[in-house]
Amino acid sequence: MSTSIPSRRVYIETYGCQMNVADSEVVGGILGSGGYALTKDLAEADAILVNTCAVRENAETRIYGRLGLFSTYKRRKPGVIVGILGCMAERLRKDLLEQERIDLVVGPDEYRRLPDLMDRAFQGEKGIAVRLSRVENYDDIMPLRTDGVSAWLSVMRGCDKFCTFCVVPFTRGRERSRSLKNLVDEVHALAERGFKEVTLLGQNVNSYRDGEHDFADLMKAVARVDRSMRVRFTTSHPQDMSDRLIEAIATEENLCPSVHLPVQSGADRILRLMNRTYTVDQYLRLVGKIRSTIPGVSLSTDIISGFPTETEAEHGMTVDLIREVRYDGAYTFKYSPRENTRAWEMPDDISDEEKGRRVWDVTELQHAISLEMNTAMIGSTVRVLVEGASRKSDRDDTGRTVTNRTVVFPHADEQPGDELDVRIERVNSATLIGVRAAEPVRSLSIKESAA
Ligand code: 5AD
Ligand code: SF4
Repeated sequence: MSTSIPSRRVYIETYGCQMNVADSEVVGGILGSGGYALTKDLAEADAILVNTCAVRENAETRIYGRLGLFSTYKRRKPGVIVGILGCMAERLRKDLLEQERIDLVVGPDEYRRLPDLMDRAFQGEKGIAVRLSRVENYDDIMPLRTDGVSAWLSVMRGCDKFCTFCVVPFTRGRERSRSLKNLVDEVHALAERGFKEVTLLGQNVNSYRDGEHDFADLMKAVARVDRSMRVRFTTSHPQDMSDRLIEAIATEENLCPSVHLPVQSGADRILRLMNRTYTVDQYLRLVGKIRSTIPGVSLSTDIISGFPTETEAEHGMTVDLIREVRYDGAYTFKYSPRENTRAWEMPDDISDEEKGRRVWDVTELQHAISLEMNTAMIGSTVRVLVEGASRKSDRDDTGRTVTNRTVVFPHADEQPGDELDVRIERVNSATLIGVRAAEPVRSLSIKESAA
């Protein structure tokens, strides 16, 4: 009788956006079928895979730092292989493979080849696979997810928008969508497993299309799977935010009233240079439509400060826009030139210090607005989906409102996945802090509730 060989163990570390988190789960699924096992413990890994981000230079710098550590690790434990996946792999290709510490370089559309490439890498053969595909969407791969409250569901890949600052169309290729039927089936499976929230993901999720069906159809179909499941989406481009989608969020009870709508800049000239395809006025009208159609909707955005040639006055227009819209939250970035993009050809003429000052302006303003909005919630009661112990204290639990606000409250007998009403007593700009206002609504999986 032959004894089976234990599976080689793979440690995956993920950087960047949620698409990468979802991709690492796809990679987990592919490796599982290819005879590999995953480990969360670096010390027991036979292979280290780093799923990387290339959207800004500092993301890459951080990853290089980590690679330094992995090389030390490799020296101590010969035979371990190190692979680079994702956007940096796609962007830097051979340059990465030439480094002694790297055995594999695999871009976002080539993950199916990983088991084979890894088998070879363990034989000492370095491997590279960086072709982009017009069709690969991993529609038939079941991602390897850890059980929990929230699941990511990648519904489309790539981006055709070509914003002039952005490397994504080059690292992730053209837009392509998964089939509506398979996505709905996957959501059924998630509901059965007890997930209570699903976030539909794509670089530009609202340009989703499957034949006749657009993103609004997909959202409605997913919402119908289990009305006790919260459904979110990210991230969207203002140009593709259709009336039908806004209507769907307003009318389907479990589509969360929370929209991430990156504006990038509050100056028309900069928006044109960025190839964002809308003016400030059009954007504001869209915000008006979203707010008047979806009561209580929360809005968040992305801002880039210090884009080439941005003047002080144009920076001021971005500040004014934030003041006018009063977002619930904003991600703010210093402009970072990326090779191959059209903005790379423009002069990077704002000093790093000045970019930092402008980012600080918008961040401070947004914090002040968030604090005011949160303060107005003191005394109100909010419905929270419980996620588990708070990071700061295990005597507290944390969860989120439908508008994606984080809420902290003393732990009692509630479980992750329960819904709980919390009365808000204190706040800061990022968190609402309160006490239980009523008994939790116990979460039951579909099977339990049917029994
Ligand atoms: N520099 C700075 N920020 C960028 N983003 C994308 N590319 C760059 C860049 N080159 C930001 C945009 C986008 C978010 C995901 O990252 O704001 O919406
Ligand atoms: Fe990049 Fe623009 Fe596409 Fe977003 S919409 S991924 S910023 S090119």
